[in-house]
Amino acid sequence: MEFQFLVPVKIVFGQGKIKETGNLCKSLGTRAVIVTGKNSAKKSSALDRLLESLETENISAVVYDQVVGEPDVIAVDRGVTFLKEEGCDMVIGLGGGSALDVAKTMAMIAVHGGSAQNYFGAKASQSLMLKDGLPFIAVPTTSGTASEVTRNAVIKNLENGLKQSIYADNMFAKLAILDPDLTLTAPPKVTAEAGMDAFTHGLESYLSIKANPLTEALSYKAVGLIFNSLERAVKNSLDIEARKNMTLGSLIAGVSFGNAGLGLCHGISPALGSLYPVTHGVSNAVLLPYVLEYNKDIAFNKISDLYLFLDERDDHLSTYHKADIVIDKIRELNNRIGIPERLREIGVERKDFARLVELTFEGRSVYNNPKKVSAQDVYKLLEAAY
Ligand SMILES: [Fe+2]
Repeated sequence: MEFQFLVPVKIVFGQGKIKETGNLCKSLGTRAVIVTGKNSAKKSSALDRLLESLETENISAVVYDQVVGEPDVIAVDRGVTFLKEEGCDMVIGLGGGSALDVAKTMAMIAVHGGSAQNYFGAKASQSLMLKDGLPFIAVPTTSGTASEVTRNAVIKNLENGLKQSIYADNMFAKLAILDPDLTLTAPPKVTAEAGMDAFTHGLESYLSIKANPLTEALSYKAVGLIFNSLERAVKNSLDIEARKNMTLGSLIAGVSFGNAGLGLCHGISPALGSLYPVTHGVSNAVLLPYVLEYNKDIAFNKISDLYLFLDERDDHLSTYHKADIVIDKIRELNNRIGIPERLREIGVERKDFARLVELTFEGRSVYNNPKKVSAQDVYKLLEAAY
């Protein structure tokens, strides 16, 4: 057995920890740019709490609030120009995955220069981003992407219109502040979709061919936390115990998949996100039961491990039968939290299948799937899920 494991991020977890941001950041810089969306962090008062905490430690701050749902190169490049004009020496991302990904990329481009457009693809970014970026501090307000502990950012490439990764070992955050209180205002739809993204991270990293004993322990823990808390968090947004478990589950899944990789769901999902205005979370959620069916004959042992998370169990069943029940339960969870069952319900069209298949093989995730995947397999899976 051989493996590597890397997560060089100081992680601070706990209710109310946003109030400690100033204290935690004071050794990292003196003037921060806070990267966030137009509304949610303001409405929830998370931005005010963050600004107050920085002020207490005499850290000045400016706000870059131009992040939209599907950020592109322009959002990053404008942010870099803004932070340079304002003389900022650290970048704080406050929000969901989009805000964190823009902030993370800005911190790197501010040091390496040029446009984000020049850095797509692991090879390009690894060879061009040799220095550390500005210190990047991640403060997530949703439980989903785990951008706070991963070394990549998904940004829309303006040359081909696709959502693609910028990826380098030195893109990690210096500090991740995980305050479950910040997730209390996430609406049910966002909670459901981001939560299923996190669940898919946990499960795909568990099944990945690159999984190792360290990541398997993390993935399994994450999957259990999310499986038993997501519905509660969706149905009662103020259920703080469920929110804590979701924050923790998403974080742990992120640490794991950042090292073990993902699988076929995350191979197809970015392709869907490039062609249609669907969130990454919902496309993963719709695909997951179909991908598990596809993987079942190879991965049924590991899928059946989740059977232990179910309330009602019959331990005499065969492993294969248990795996079937687990897949059914994931389908039921999707139904109960309002996730559609079929790709056609989220706007996918049959005429695009060939392009979707092609795009699936441009990413890395498909190559970590436990069962080998051919173009014909992806085509069949899209047809089954349609
Ligand atoms: Fe994801």
